[in-house]
Amino acid sequence: MQLSLTQPSSWILLLLLVMNLFLWKNVASVPMCAMRNARCFTFFEDTFELAGSLSHNISGEVSELFTEFYEALLKSGHMILNAWESPLENLVRELSATENVPDTIISKATNIKTKINAVQKGVNSLMSSMLQNGDEEKNNPAWSRLPLLQPGNEDARIRSFYGMISCLDNDFKKVDIYLNVLKCYMLKIDNC
Ligand SMILES: *[C@@H]1O[C@H](CO)[C@@H](O)[C@H](O)[C@H]1NC(C)=O
Repeated sequence: MQLSLTQPSSWILLLLLVMNLFLWKNVASVPMCAMRNARCFTFFEDTFELAGSLSHNISGEVSELFTEFYEALLKSGHMILNAWESPLENLVRELSATENVPDTIISKATNIKTKINAVQKGVNSLMSSMLQNGDEEKNNPAWSRLPLLQPGNEDARIRSFYGMISCLDNDFKKVDIYLNVLKCYMLKIDNC
């Protein structure tokens, strides 16, 4: 039997043929896969593969950042404590040698010095257990700029005590924050 375009079945056949041509044309112009490492990756595989390896890398980088941040806190605390060691000794000695300084102030300063030495020992042992190269920041120039006690008359000494104690106050607020954050991290305490 001869097919004629007047017959409905002929139209369907022609339509199928044209659609097929269209499909093949699209297949030929868009590659179905990307070759990598002698493997064919489809568009979705490729996207998942790239996004997956990138997010894996980011996750690794974030945990490195996290660890480095706490190491930096510990090192900063350590640096502040070391930098204050001898200025604090001077402060206590000078306060004791200055007339009209109440005993309560001298004993408070002595007490603070003793406690700071204890914190220093604790931080040193944290440093040696948490870090391999803990001593590298010992002489950081940033912390060699502590105010010095000025010799001179009583007014100058009072001013210099004031400068030093307010600097001590600032620095130990920092140490307090660093050590608290580290404690929360190391002991995995939530909401602190
Ligand atoms: C993340 O990728 C970069 C290179 O793109 C690489 O240098 C780094 O080591 C990777 N990080 C991790 C944690 O895998």
